[in-house]
Amino acid sequence: MEVVILPSESAIADLAASALVALVNAKPTAVIGLATGSSPLALYRRLIQHYQASEISFAQAKAFMLDEYVGIDPAHPERYRNVIETEIASQVDFAPGAVQGPDGNAADLAAACQAYDQAIKQSGGIDLQILGIGSDGHIAFNEPGSSFTSRTRLVVLTEQTIADNARFFGNDPEAVPIFALTQGLGTIMESRHALLVATGAGKAQAVKQMVEGGVSAMWPASILQFHPHVTVLLDPAAAAQLELADYYKHAFANKPSWQAL
Ligand code: GLP
Repeated sequence: MEVVILPSESAIADLAASALVALVNAKPTAVIGLATGSSPLALYRRLIQHYQASEISFAQAKAFMLDEYVGIDPAHPERYRNVIETEIASQVDFAPGAVQGPDGNAADLAAACQAYDQAIKQSGGIDLQILGIGSDGHIAFNEPGSSFTSRTRLVVLTEQTIADNARFFGNDPEAVPIFALTQGLGTIMESRHALLVATGAGKAQAVKQMVEGGVSAMWPASILQFHPHVTVLLDPAAAAQLELADYYKHAFANKPSWQAL
């Protein structure tokens, strides 16, 4: 796990975007895992700028979303499919149908989940998975207690997540769907490179548990300690509880220039 502590959200977005630009230029058919939430938004804005400057093209790339609310009005602006469309997909040159997400309005949700895992496999697997982290340590919507081998499935959101996400629903927790479809921890662990972005003091405890805590389903993101290639990009507030912060800074400052993220 490479932990990089950077001064600002904008420095994080720059570095994360450079990894995406390098990947897609080296492999134009790359498969990208897209996350929702506020954490990746600055990164998406940077990617759009790189696209506008002709430094990246998604024309041959594919993307898979991490998760989706169940039963949300298809036109709702907070439906994750619509968020991804607004924040990135419609602003770059993905081919029609190249960005997929779990279908939270499918008649048969279990079948939709299975088909989604299958579609990821058939695409060749995710080359770079962008991740955020919930304040309770969830990744995608894998709440505490999630099995480490879980696949895409229906989950019930915790009250904490509902409270956290109420800000996207007019600060009304009642308006937040309680069910979601999410890639499982086992699904996410199959990505070739996981790039997790966390900023702000509200993430400090979850980051501490993920990076330096014991691996436990109580803090689902801690499974990333077993992932062969994880990059964790943090601002100083999110890194505040890390015991080895000085080492992470030292290691990054002395990183050989030939070694990519
Ligand atoms: C949401 C999403 C996650 C996201 C997390 C953090 O519930 N399902 O994919 O990483 O919560 O969100 P934010 O980046 O807005 O803090």
